[in-house]
Amino acid sequence: MVKVAILGAAGGIGQSISLILKKHPLVDELALYDIVNAPGVATDLSHINTKAKVTGYNGVKELDAALTGADIVVVPAGVPRKPGMTRDDLFKINAGIVKGLATAIAKNCPKAFSCIISNPVNSTVPICAEVYKTYGCYNPKKLFGVTTLDVVRANTFVSECKGLDVSKTDITVIGGHSGTTIIPLLSQIPGVNFTESQIKSLTQHIQFGGDEVVKAKNGKGSATLSMAYAGALFVDKLLNAIVLNKTVTACSYVESPIAKADGIRFFSSALKIDKNGIVEYVPLGKLSEFEQNLYNECIPQLKVNIEKGVNFVAQSK
Ligand code: NAD
Ligand code: LMR
Repeated sequence: MVKVAILGAAGGIGQSISLILKKHPLVDELALYDIVNAPGVATDLSHINTKAKVTGYNGVKELDAALTGADIVVVPAGVPRKPGMTRDDLFKINAGIVKGLATAIAKNCPKAFSCIISNPVNSTVPICAEVYKTYGCYNPKKLFGVTTLDVVRANTFVSECKGLDVSKTDITVIGGHSGTTIIPLLSQIPGVNFTESQIKSLTQHIQFGGDEVVKAKNGKGSATLSMAYAGALFVDKLLNAIVLNKTVTACSYVESPIAKADGIRFFSSALKIDKNGIVEYVPLGKLSEFEQNLYNECIPQLKVNIEKGVNFVAQSK
């Protein structure tokens, strides 16, 4: 029996990802938690004639029940950006929200896989790690910052540009999840050559795809539907690992040895994951000069974002 809990389930991402996961054949129970309207969303979804049993939990008094027995917890709780904001501007509100939810996860389902969507991911994942440590249940192999939307965007934009079959395109995106910390490894796509200007414009489009959506929504939030699709892709991989005993490959922002030599504790790269969590951090391989420069630019930014998350937990102890 596999239970997936969604925290922030009544929001733009939360509702859409819940709809997609309600259809997933490997989900037995879908627990929807929010501080508003979760029972409404749950009742609505519960009428869909698929296997997953949907339950709704409203408000902090019901949070423990939502999490008890969860195998996978997905966290899209928190505020989204408005035009002119950076993801880091969300830290003020979302850091406290994520810290509170991580505390509840540590208490109720310490062995669950955590999938953190709430921004700024570069800092919210370190926050979760530090909270889990406080409760003695931190397993770095099971804590994931969801960066799948960067991969989804890379696959879409590159296959549109080069006339590739998008269903067979799977681009590795490394670094973090904000602006220039997002590094698509276009040089590693087999059999595809780019002009210098294509590399520059595609990279910029992938790095700032989130800003494009924020601008187009004009004050009504950020990516929700493409994020729900991407988040569900990531959860599908975990379900295949947990239930079908497969080893799956996905990019995610995790505590990682990959950039440790540069003083970076959390980094996104391709990973192999099985039912116990990460089993391999796939080496980056050879970067082009352009990608190496992006990497060099990313490192100091990530360092600041990570320290901000770690310090937030240390200071609020
Ligand atoms: P939204 O405002 O539509 O939904 C957020 C939901 O969180 C709301 O229903 C709200 O009630 C709920 N919430 C607030 N505080 C809560 C708490 N303490 N416990 C439980 N639920 C709580 O926002 P959205 O568009 O769904 O975005 C949610 C987050 O996801 C934002 O921080 C956004 O920046 C982030 N995001 C991340 C990615 C990514 O690639 N990782 C992509 C898109 C959005
Ligand atoms: C995205 O990449 O779409 C999200 O991180 C949301 C945002 O604020 O851009």
